[in-house]
Amino acid sequence: MEFSQVIKERYSCKKYDGRKISDEQLTRILEAGRLAPTAKNLQEQHIYVANTPEVLAVIDKHTPCRYNAGTVLIVAFNKDNVYTYPNSTRQSGIEDATIVATHLILAAADIGIDSCWVNCVDIDALKADLGLPDNEEILMLLDLGFAEKGAGPLPNHSLRKELSETVTYLK
Ligand SMILES: Cc1cc2nc3c(=O)[nH]c(=O)nc-3n(C[C@H](O)[C@H](O)[C@H](O)COP(=O)(O)O)c2cc1C
Repeated sequence: MEFSQVIKERYSCKKYDGRKISDEQLTRILEAGRLAPTAKNLQEQHIYVANTPEVLAVIDKHTPCRYNAGTVLIVAFNKDNVYTYPNSTRQSGIEDATIVATHLILAAADIGIDSCWVNCVDIDALKADLGLPDNEEILMLLDLGFAEKGAGPLPNHSLRKELSETVTYLK
């Protein structure tokens, strides 16, 4: 799909038909995350794939926002492998993982897979329940799948501020 079309067609899907995406689709999406830029090219992301009934049930214990998606990615990063910017306490982990997640979302849209970014999750409880390592921080969950028949974007999807409200040309 044309990139401009991908940007236009992506929306947050909040009702799925329960089917998991195919291994081929999953690999294409994960590959787009692999190519994402990270500070100092540290590639500190770690992505977990959840697509079995057992693991999806664990996820459901900690978020109301799976919306029956058949596949969920958990985007985490290695806190021990982040870049700390000079003269700053700011670190790269969250922003690097965010770029990776954005690549995943857009790659999904490109091949007709619906998605939703999910932050409304009890991260610590999920991490403990899944036995994820202490040195990793979960950034977000990404629902992936196929919109239920008749489902589509929420009304707020089309409400975007004008550029004049969010952009300033410096003189
Ligand atoms: C950082 C972030 C966190 C979000 N967290 C959630 C969430 O926890 N649950 C949910 O249903 N949607 C979540 N969303 C989806 C937003 O509700 C959605 O992106 C927003 O309403 C705009 O709609 P659109 O994505 O269809 O344009 C999140 C989106 C972003 C970017």
